[in-house]
Amino acid sequence: MRERRYNVAVVGATGAVGTEMMRILEERNFPVERLVPLASERSAGKSVKFKGEEIPVKVLDERSFEGVQIALFSAGGSVSERFAPIAARSGCVVVDNTSAFRMDPDVPLVVPEVNPHAISLYKKKGIIANPNCSTIQMVVVLKPLHDRARIRRVVVSTYQSVSGTGMRAILELEAQVRAWVEGKALEPKVYPHPIAFNCLPHIDVFFEDGYTKEEMKMVNETKKIMEDETIRVTATTVRVPVFRGHSEAINIETERKLTVQEAREILSRAPGVKLWDDPAEKKYPMPILAAGGDETWVGRIREDTSVENGLNLWVVADNLRKGAALNAIQIAEILIRDYLV
Ligand code: A2P
Repeated sequence: MRERRYNVAVVGATGAVGTEMMRILEERNFPVERLVPLASERSAGKSVKFKGEEIPVKVLDERSFEGVQIALFSAGGSVSERFAPIAARSGCVVVDNTSAFRMDPDVPLVVPEVNPHAISLYKKKGIIANPNCSTIQMVVVLKPLHDRARIRRVVVSTYQSVSGTGMRAILELEAQVRAWVEGKALEPKVYPHPIAFNCLPHIDVFFEDGYTKEEMKMVNETKKIMEDETIRVTATTVRVPVFRGHSEAINIETERKLTVQEAREILSRAPGVKLWDDPAEKKYPMPILAAGGDETWVGRIREDTSVENGLNLWVVADNLRKGAALNAIQIAEILIRDYLV
């Protein structure tokens, strides 16, 4: 029997994540019948390359989803808020990479290695939310440890690359590095301060209590994905001058004791995880190792002797792939395997 194929829309097809989505659809041989690349009027006349073909980008409008079965959204929260319900109403299933619907109780928030069963909730609104990039790579590592030893508290600090902000931020870092080499002034446009040779403890907007929205995404989304409201999480999220790959220093406290050896054993078998932890050989995860790949790398596993049952970990993944496009397409793969048959 011929495999069923799907018409797939990519909303934000000219952006950093959209580009990666199309690359991964092609790489993983997702059964695409027709690709529909969508973007804003700014992209009118542009085309994208898919499976060796140049496909014209269409301007997103209310009729864009006719005949489309799956829509992958990555064009910002306001675009999703407006157009994801329109897409769902026209009969397609939306996998949304923005934060617009993540905390909606009628929308599943899914990391396939952690809570694939939650996908079934998509039937309520026709929308599945893809979590925040930093949250995805953290829960991929935490879930197998939680299953064994029950995590009570997480303290995480992130070192997030500029590609998480989008294409303009990638270009801004590049331009500022060139300007620095040429002895010219650094001109911030996307970020409030220079990002080259700097670190910004400011991702997304600030709330009144002093936390950023990015930090609170990590707190709230972790509980929803791990399906455990009792896990206490606190985060500090920082933008660093790295093009691709987010890093995280994670401290956990567990109910049952986990030795470093046990944690290494668990993580060496965990789905989607690559254990890279041999400091004597200078083996530890770094963005330049993780970028371009699918795995979430973990290393520098140490006992935290300042508490009873504590561990420190260093976790790195490609934010455009596992943190965004890959996770969305893994969701879509489960969707067509188990639900759209
Ligand atoms: P465009 O290139 O036409 O502006 P990034 O995250 O890399 O900045 O990319 C954002 C993506 O979202 C781009 O493809 C961008 O298209 C798209 N986008 C932004 N605003 C809109 C909008 N109002 N309607 C449709 N697509 C949009």
